[in-house]
Amino acid sequence: MTRGPTIVIFGASGDLARRKLIPALWHLAARGRLPGHFRVIGTGRTGFGQQAYREHVMDAVRAAVPDADAAQLQGFAAAFSFVRMPEGVSFHALREALSPDGQCGDCIFYLAVPPSLYSGIAAGLAELGMMDEKDGYRRLIVEKPFGYDLDSAVALQDALLSCCREDQIYRIDHYLGKETVQNILAFRFSNALFESVWNRNYIDWVEITAAEELGVGKRGGYYDTAGALRDMVQNHMMQLLALVAMEPPVNLNPESLRNETQKVFQSLRPFERASLADPVPSVHEACGPGRPACIRGRYRGYLDEAGIAPGSTTETWVGARIFIDNWRWGGVPFVVRTGKKMPVRVTEIVVHFKRTPHILFRNSASPQVSNSLIIRIQPDEGLLLTLGLKSPGSGFGLQQIPLHFHYRELEGTPLSEAYERLILDCINGDPSLFIRGDAVLACWRFVQPVLDAWTGGESPLAEYAPGSWGPELGDLLLPPGEHWREPCRVLSEDGVCHL
Ligand SMILES: NC(=O)c1ccc[n+]([C@@H]2O[C@H](COP(=O)([O-])OP(=O)(O)OC[C@H]3O[C@@H](n4cnc5c(N)ncnc54)[C@H](OP(=O)(O)O)[C@@H]3O)[C@@H](O)[C@H]2O)c1
Repeated sequence: MTRGPTIVIFGASGDLARRKLIPALWHLAARGRLPGHFRVIGTGRTGFGQQAYREHVMDAVRAAVPDADAAQLQGFAAAFSFVRMPEGVSFHALREALSPDGQCGDCIFYLAVPPSLYSGIAAGLAELGMMDEKDGYRRLIVEKPFGYDLDSAVALQDALLSCCREDQIYRIDHYLGKETVQNILAFRFSNALFESVWNRNYIDWVEITAAEELGVGKRGGYYDTAGALRDMVQNHMMQLLALVAMEPPVNLNPESLRNETQKVFQSLRPFERASLADPVPSVHEACGPGRPACIRGRYRGYLDEAGIAPGSTTETWVGARIFIDNWRWGGVPFVVRTGKKMPVRVTEIVVHFKRTPHILFRNSASPQVSNSLIIRIQPDEGLLLTLGLKSPGSGFGLQQIPLHFHYRELEGTPLSEAYERLILDCINGDPSLFIRGDAVLACWRFVQPVLDAWTGGESPLAEYAPGSWGPELGDLLLPPGEHWREPCRVLSEDGVCHL
């Protein structure tokens, strides 16, 4: 019998394994996407007996897929087993479970544990030869966050590379597993119509929003040690920015794609220290040079949430104005913002095109028309393009008309969860949608001056009302005269949100 891959989940009792990994494996198995005879070994310090673990697996599937077929579920759970690994104990029990006959075959180690454990687990695996590829591939999936700052990311990178090769490491940024994020590439590089105007000559500025409706909830303890910059900007938002800004890769080989991403990160204009210091307090006073480039905010009431340290200065909102110093993007601001307790959970990219050089239809009754393209990552995944068109009737009154496409209207396969795609890609040895080591470090290098300025207390923490779009100071990041878009859950209800 050919043995399929073995997936070892460290942290098998945890939240990620239960809510994401087990359901993702279920969906892959149910669609026949997993190689035959795969097996999953869960590990943990305390944990389960074999049957209890299989019950846990079935519960996790039922929570995500209430109508899962009972017989199919039993068969799925039978592929799972559990190995107890109390703290401080070597990895012999795991090696024994992996290769009872001395042959392990292909193997993926998924590190779904707190980041402080990543390097120790990699070392434990390497010490017993479990990263050696004698009888199959060995891959390590590393969850985010990869490091806490530049120094810790470099240390983690060095520690991992002392245990295995770079091409054995699959660093997760689950945003890259989203269909709509991958669609940025498909949209950009399959439509000559847009590629020809995708540059500084036609694009005025780019706005990237990742808003969450919820506050920190039960994750206060973790969140308070991270904050929005580490949790969202350094990883997810930088990846979105790279996909919008990158040059066309020569082909879709993983390294071609990742090289282009890295070139974007290498072209980021470093933040100037002065632009991170205390911004002028009034929005109206600050227009010219010297405007802040990165602003942090915190929703009112954050300090009263569970798990938050007294006197914490952790930010729940970040906005930044970023420039990419290359020929395509010279001078075009990329303005990004992310925060908690905002009006709606939405992630989108808005490409604002320049206005026409001469306004023919100058009519006080008409809105000032400009084209913008909205790439909606979530929810109501899709695209919206605004066009200026003539209003019916006499004269030349204009209206701004949205043309929209919604993924939900496409027939066929429903959008799959990011983790399904990423696990499958790892099994297939395709690292395109995983972050390369040099890219992670480049992103940390870019945000580190901001962390330093904030640690030094040089920038105030602007409060905002829960349910608002962030602090008023955030407007200082925009090009003069521009406004943040206020998106609705429903892509096409632009500006008239009823939800
Ligand atoms: N949850 C998510 O949605 C999510 C999203 C993105 C990234 N992540 C990342 O994925 C990883 C896992 O997240 P999670 O939410 O599943 O975490 P979790 O529930 O807090 O922990 C996962 C498991 O790790 C084990 N563990 C915890 N502390 C340990 C220690 N000191 N020594 C040994 N084992 C320990 C625990 O299992 P035992 O007690 O059985 O050992 C626990 O069940 C983290 O790095 C997180 O940042 C999670």
